[in-house]
Amino acid sequence: MGLPTAASVADLAVAARTLALRALSPLERALGARGGPGGAPLPPLWLRRHAGPVRAFRPSAEQALALLDRLGLVRPGLRVLDFGCGPGSLVPLLSGRLGPDGAYLGLDLHAASIHWCREAFAGDPRLRFERLEPAASRPWPAAADAWDLVLAKSVFTHLLEEEARAALAEIRRALAPGGRAVVTAFLFDGATFAGRPLPWFPCPDAHAEVRWRRAARPTAAVAWARESFAALAGASGLEEERFVAGFHPGGAAPPAGQDTLVLRPSD
Ligand SMILES: C[S@@+](CC[C@H](N)C(=O)[O-])C[C@H]1O[C@@H](n2cnc3c(N)ncnc32)[C@H](O)[C@@H]1O
Repeated sequence: MGLPTAASVADLAVAARTLALRALSPLERALGARGGPGGAPLPPLWLRRHAGPVRAFRPSAEQALALLDRLGLVRPGLRVLDFGCGPGSLVPLLSGRLGPDGAYLGLDLHAASIHWCREAFAGDPRLRFERLEPAASRPWPAAADAWDLVLAKSVFTHLLEEEARAALAEIRRALAPGGRAVVTAFLFDGATFAGRPLPWFPCPDAHAEVRWRRAARPTAAVAWARESFAALAGASGLEEERFVAGFHPGGAAPPAGQDTLVLRPSD
């Protein structure tokens, strides 16, 4: 057996954190962790951490819903596909807005999140959750041309080029005519930063159009040159309709989540 690599040490650190939070989760429940608005179920601590900083679990979902509202993208009867849904942070807020004829499908690689969502939201027949198999699960288990709104909140921040390309193609396949995709990402100005380091995304180098924060775990946080992301989306038949600037790690106080793109079919 060889020496552990930086990548295996980083993976071990995440696994150890998950174990510690799993051990603490029953304690949190015993101490009376409260559910969401209207008694909406709250995922255990370790699953909330899987979706990002624990303290941001609800505020970040509320911010996202507020932005969708500002953009006029939520209405009764909506069919929503949530790519990388995690433990369903958006579900309690969104499901209250879909009306009786709306539908929601959450997709994620993370089996435990999907399992939890299925149990927690089992009483609502409008909601479905499917696990994606790593790399192999394309096409997604989602009907083509069928979804009015495809969400990908804080997912492209974890995808490198090949996965991102495949996901954009699936988003395009899933979108109904007139539908929109709302995708968050860390985007930087490729022209400004050509040959210049991005302090919070130093890897692999200052010339890359896709950069990441930690050499040992590239998918922990990925940033894209905005032009490159647009080109990748364009190659899948998606074009930018709107851009809402967000915060970046290391940037000023985060008022509004990650950069957000509204994409629409270009053909
Ligand atoms: C930062 S969390 C965001 C979760 C949720 N969208 C939210 O905002 O609360 C990223 C999620 O994307 C999922 N994910 C990462 N790569 C993925 C992939 N290739 N396919 C599907 N899900 C993925 C992770 O399992 C995780 O649940």
